[in-house]
Amino acid sequence: MILSGKARLAGVMGWPVSHSRSPRLHGFWLERHAIDGVYVPLAVPPERIETALRALPVLGFRGVNLTVPHKESAPAICDELDPLARRIGAVNTVVIGEDGRLIGSNTDASGFIENLRRNSRWRSGSDPLVVLGAGGAARAACVALLDAGAGSVRIANRTQMRAEILAEELGAGVEAVAWQDRNDALDGATLLVNTTTLGMTGQPALEIDLSALPKSAVVCDIVYTPLETPLLAAARARGNPPVDGLGMLLYQAQPGFEAWFGVRPDVDDELRQFVLADLQE
Ligand code: ATR
Repeated sequence: MILSGKARLAGVMGWPVSHSRSPRLHGFWLERHAIDGVYVPLAVPPERIETALRALPVLGFRGVNLTVPHKESAPAICDELDPLARRIGAVNTVVIGEDGRLIGSNTDASGFIENLRRNSRWRSGSDPLVVLGAGGAARAACVALLDAGAGSVRIANRTQMRAEILAEELGAGVEAVAWQDRNDALDGATLLVNTTTLGMTGQPALEIDLSALPKSAVVCDIVYTPLETPLLAAARARGNPPVDGLGMLLYQAQPGFEAWFGVRPDVDDELRQFVLADLQE
């Protein structure tokens, strides 16, 4: 990679940031399009996030992605928020405006729905849906599903109060279900989404019995390490179409890349294999 003095700068801020796959992903696109630009990992502790974001225009950065734990603190720091980021209460993409303003958006929701649409036959209007989890990822998935036309969403979360708060906030058509009732909640569902960390390498297993889930229901896991989680393996074994979480990572990256580097990059199998090779190392 040879950069000129005019190279476009972007990156990802996280704490820690070393686990982030975004530099590899954006690096692939930069190389594919022979762009004079760079995308770097930026390790920023939570107490320095405002200083770090404010420094971006000074340093000539075009913007950054944000990952754990900065997504939820960024809305209060950004000068402008897109309506989706405001509703979700989290920013994962920051673009520096002409005037140096920090413009925050959330592409997790569009990444989630794009992945689902491209990799399954699930279409809105086929309710009910079941979402496991009530954290930031659940919020983005639920907002995406509601915006796509979902009319009935059941949220089950270990801490029921969080599910109730989320359901209340999202309004009509969304109900909280007790975690211990998650198996029964699958009855008649057309889509099951896991947004918890359960099933991720190094995390506890997701205990769920899919018996009540119709065989035509799409099962989507946003966990992508491993790529085929035990949930997806169980779904596949009984005939439910599975959708893995890697696609969400790839699709959420597209709008930021386009805004910073001026090219709409493609999500294709070559990119998928490239990112996957790193996950399997
Ligand atoms: P994110 O913003 O990435 O969604 P999060 O807010 O930490 O991350 O949410 C993690 C989700 O995984 C939560 O729904 C969490 O349940 P709680 O709200 O009860 O914490 C869920 N989760 C994590 N570990 C879990 C476990 N051992 N059993 C059940 N749910 C778990």
